[in-house]
Amino acid sequence: MAEVVIVPDSAAGGRLVAELISRRIRTNPQFVLGLATGSTPMPVYQRLSALLAGVDVSSVRGFALDEYVGIDPAHSESYRSVIRREVVEPLGLDPELIHVPDGSVDGIRTAGADYEASIEEAGGVDLQILGIGTTGHIGFNEPGSSFASLTRVKTLTEQTRRDNARFFDSLEEVPRHCITQGLGTILRARHLVMLAFGDGKAAAVAGAVEGPLTASLPASAIQLHERVTVVIDEAAASRLRFADYYRHAYANKPDWQEL
Ligand code: GLP
Repeated sequence: MAEVVIVPDSAAGGRLVAELISRRIRTNPQFVLGLATGSTPMPVYQRLSALLAGVDVSSVRGFALDEYVGIDPAHSESYRSVIRREVVEPLGLDPELIHVPDGSVDGIRTAGADYEASIEEAGGVDLQILGIGTTGHIGFNEPGSSFASLTRVKTLTEQTRRDNARFFDSLEEVPRHCITQGLGTILRARHLVMLAFGDGKAAAVAGAVEGPLTASLPASAIQLHERVTVVIDEAAASRLRFADYYRHAYANKPDWQEL
């Protein structure tokens, strides 16, 4: 079962996850961090840059979940740009060691397999940060995504395009296709940490944590993983049946049990 931690707000969630990641990087300088984009993980990165000040992060490796297909990599909202701006630069990571799937149309037929190979070469992802879309997607695995899927091209739902239009000048500008790690790829990471804040995420979170396992709600795939931490605020937790139990378990967590 996922460990569900209900925090007062996104800043507290960001602190908790950043502290966890910073501890792991301090004990393993070659840590492989799985990176998510979207608004949700930003408090994690902001806190992490403070916690890692003075720590040698030159060997930390990173893999982003996804990228838009056909977007100019120099566009400020390409995930390559977002990861550079929000993660690589503030944390002082080596850009050569931080990977984002290649969304250029030219190489798109082989980009998925190439990305899988580079994750494998790095020895796999130690901890994968995840947000969740209102359609229940993780990465860009929209409803219907196979639990066995690997990195490949997907078509975005119109809902996701509308959700992400706030990052672009107009809805028309939001790409229709993406390349994303598959659910099978994500499930190979050794620890999944999913964050969600706000009541807009409550239904998706309930489906992911407590709903039936179904490709119709791709984030429910996290129930197949043996090590999952879900960090959410009260609003995102509002539709969970067993919220009281999660609070009880966390309040009584033994010191020896790490997050
Ligand atoms: C985006 C990303 C996901 C992200 C999700 C939620 O489209 N591809 O990785 O988790 O949608 O985004 P946000 O955190 O901005 O709500």
